[in-house]
Order: sequence, then C-alpha cells, then structure tokens
Amino acid sequence: ASPRLIVLGSVNADHVLQVDNFPRPGETVTGHGYQIIPGGKGANQAVAAARLGAEIGFIACVGDDDFGRRMINEFQQDGIETSAVMTVEGLPTGIALIQIAAGGENAISISAEANAALTPEALKPHLGLIREAETLLMQLESPLETIELVAKEAREAGTKVILNPAPARALPDSLLANLDIITPNETEAELLTGVKVESEDDAAMAACVLHGKGVETVLITLGEKGAFVSRAEGKKLIRGYKVDPVDTTAAGDTFNGALVASMQKGASLEQAIGFAHGAAAISVTRLGAQTSIPSLEEVNKFIKDNS
Ligand code: RIB
Ligand code: NA
Repeated sequence: ASPRLIVLGSVNADHVLQVDNFPRPGETVTGHGYQIIPGGKGANQAVAAARLGAEIGFIACVGDDDFGRRMINEFQQDGIETSAVMTVEGLPTGIALIQIAAGGENAISISAEANAALTPEALKPHLGLIREAETLLMQLESPLETIELVAKEAREAGTKVILNPAPARALPDSLLANLDIITPNETEAELLTGVKVESEDDAAMAACVLHGKGVETVLITLGEKGAFVSRAEGKKLIRGYKVDPVDTTAAGDTFNGALVASMQKGASLEQAIGFAHGAAAISVTRLGAQTSIPSLEEVNKFIKDNS
C-alpha cells in the first residue's frame, strides 16, 4: 500500500560552521566546529514526520555522490519509504552553507544542485503516490512549476495539501487556491500578503488575505509567541515553549513534520500544534538540522515535563 503521508522537497548537505558573530561584507571571521550535517527543508520535514510516528514516503532528488547515497540509507533507517527518492546523474546533492552565531541565530546560503532536477517531467512516474496519499507536505526548495503541478493533482485527487512556504518567495494565486493549509512564519506571511506581521492582530489580517485567495487553514508561526491559526471555525494563538536556543536551524521543519505526523494519528489541529511546538522546542536546543530532530518518546516526555 502507498504511504498515507507524502513529503515532497529538497535534500541538502549542510556545511555548518559556528561563529561568534556573522562576518560583515569584506570581513573574515574565524569559526569552529565545522561539520557536514544532513539537511534540506524537504528531508528535514520528512525525517521529523517519520521519527514522530508517521507512515511516510519522500519524493526528492539527490546527487550522484557519497552524500546522496548516505542520505537514502539514513532515510530508510528512519523508516521513510524511498522509492521516489531519485539519484540524478552528473549533479551533486544540494548544499547549504550555514553559519550559526553565538545566540543560536543562523545565516544560510543554499544551492539547489540535484534538487533542481525535481521537474514536472521527473515527477510524473510518482504522481500515483500523491493521488493515493491522504496528505501531501511541500516547501519551496523545489522547482515552483513542480509544486504547482503537484498541488493541482493532489487537490483533484482529494489529497490534502499542506505548504510550508519557506524559504520566503511570492506565490501565484493559482497555487494558493489549491492549498488546504499554509504554514508561513512572519517574514513569509508578509511576503505573501503585504501585511507586516508583528502582532496577533497583524497575523489575523495576513490570514484574512490568504483566506481570500482560497487557503482554508492559515497557520502563522510567530517565533517565541507561538502559532496563530485561522480558519472558518475561528482564530486562536497557541503558545509555544521557551527554551535557550543553541541552533534554530530546522526548527520550522521539525514543527511542520511534527504537525502532519500528529494530525495523521488523528489529533485535532490544535493538539497537533501543541505537539509540534514541543518537537520544535527540543530541536532548537540541539545543533544541526536532522541531528536535532527528536524521537516521539523525547517529545512526549518534554511535553509532560513542561506542562
Ligand atoms: O530549514 C533548514 C534547512 O534550510 C537547512 O537544513 C538547510 O539545508 C536549508 O535548506
Ligand atoms: Na537545531
């Protein structure tokens, strides 16, 4: 049987360096702790959903290199169905250059590499997986025409479409109209709606614009303030947890993967957000992307200890 949850997105090798302060243009700073860590928004969300108990298939492209081969292996160890993880000849796996500053903040430069090969053409053999799934989760590190095609096919087949619109970019109304749930942060919400999101009221206004474009459920993450959710049943701010940040890389990805995993197990949207806040909070206390994503036991314990 096909997995009930499909994640479509990127795979990156994150080249991570810790610095005291980010270099300014023209400046050189000395960092430490260089590591290559599994990342990419798609892979991070797939791994989070899998570690948190979802039955999931991943659609992605990796390069014809050691890192790509290692990733397919690691996805399988996390219980991810990888028949639609394609190896692209002649291209390296996607990369991200990540600097992490002392307060846990990051600065990231990415290059798509093999992720750019996830074209509508390459995807065609896997459309059946999307049509048969209950839920599809995507981000914006894959070609936009692929995301548009997949959202349309999923909508027509009755598969629920969730888009985490990261990294930030403007999107066509025709894509927004096919989304069941969108999960922007403040910056992404502003880029999509023109509303500067600083307060709960601003979030409500931005959500209103997105509802007007046909998105049923708008979930805007507001950093430490929590997550603002808006849909026909009403609006609500659901608070998160306060932790001392070590590295915020992939906190949003952990949140999204946890959210869909929890909903897949029958949790209400509100319960799923609470669970996702717990998972994301743990990830922020650890270095790296996939290295920071917790297990189901860890999240359950964290939520119990902090309630
Ligand atoms: O969201 C975090 C991810 O963004 C990192 O793992 C990096 O690969 C970039 O894509
Ligand atoms: Na982290």
